[in-house]
Amino acid sequence: MEHFVAIFVLLLTAVACNSASQNATAASCTISKYNEDHINQAQSECSEITIDSLIVPYGVTLDLTKLKTGAKLIFRGTTVWQYEEWEGPLLLIKGTNVEVTGSDDHVLDGRGALWWDGLGGNGGKIKPHFMKATVTNSVIHKLNIKNTPVQAFSVHGCIDSVVQYITIDNKDGDTKGGHNTDAFNVNSCNNITIKHCTVYNQDDCMALNSGQNTYFLDNYCSGGHGISIGSVGGGSEVKGVLVDGCQIVDSDNGVRIKTKYGQTGSVSDITYQNIVLKNIHKYGITMQGDYGLKKVYLLVVCLFPM
Ligand SMILES: *[C@@H]1O[C@H](CO)[C@@H](O)[C@H](O)[C@H]1NC(C)=O
Repeated sequence: MEHFVAIFVLLLTAVACNSASQNATAASCTISKYNEDHINQAQSECSEITIDSLIVPYGVTLDLTKLKTGAKLIFRGTTVWQYEEWEGPLLLIKGTNVEVTGSDDHVLDGRGALWWDGLGGNGGKIKPHFMKATVTNSVIHKLNIKNTPVQAFSVHGCIDSVVQYITIDNKDGDTKGGHNTDAFNVNSCNNITIKHCTVYNQDDCMALNSGQNTYFLDNYCSGGHGISIGSVGGGSEVKGVLVDGCQIVDSDNGVRIKTKYGQTGSVSDITYQNIVLKNIHKYGITMQGDYGLKKVYLLVVCLFPM
């Protein structure tokens, strides 16, 4: 009998320890203070991770590239990055079957005004790219991105994925020196859909440089350079694009295709339909096949006989 009681107590202890360790794991799935080990541990253990009002230290990428297959990532509150002149990116996301989203009132605040000097990527302060996502079979939606130092959202190497209901609001850059604040840079994806997004910026709403089966649907683009393919060169291929149901307002261009002078590459199977253009400053529709061609001016020197 005594023997039996002893085993019973041991069992109870085992159960208590087990539930304590489960609590510890659950607690670490919310990240509200920056700690690299903690972030890595959360990625290896949690199927739902919340980034809550996080301050990311200067010169550091918030690296969420080890998400578990099928994980959900949620942003809450205001996420900010401390100031540093560097290339970035400030946020990296990678995963398969993942869902990335934000609470209604969250903001990913790039605080671009700290870097803006009117020069963008052409000089002045070194400005970090904002975010890059490489996902397969995934959905990234309802993110509120504000004031990126330069390029906002790079969609790179994505397969069979949807990016939707994203707001990229770089309006402040209009008066404070925002430049080269492209909204979506798309490279090397196959079957990526970007839809229902709202963009206010000072460069391309989308810049599509390479990839197959790109769908850019029902997006609103204001203040920038329009929806662009290219500049394509260096052997890149853009094949199969549908731009449908988009509005482009107060922008330099509407839709354009640029290929680089003196280089190879291919752009094929492109469809634009149901596009509304309003207050376009340069061209509503433009195709340029000699992008980057240097105009040569001859300086004629006259020598007068003495
Ligand atoms: C493209 O991706 C979407 C979204 O993940 C998926 O539903 C669809 O089946 C994919 N299309 C092809 C041809 O694989």
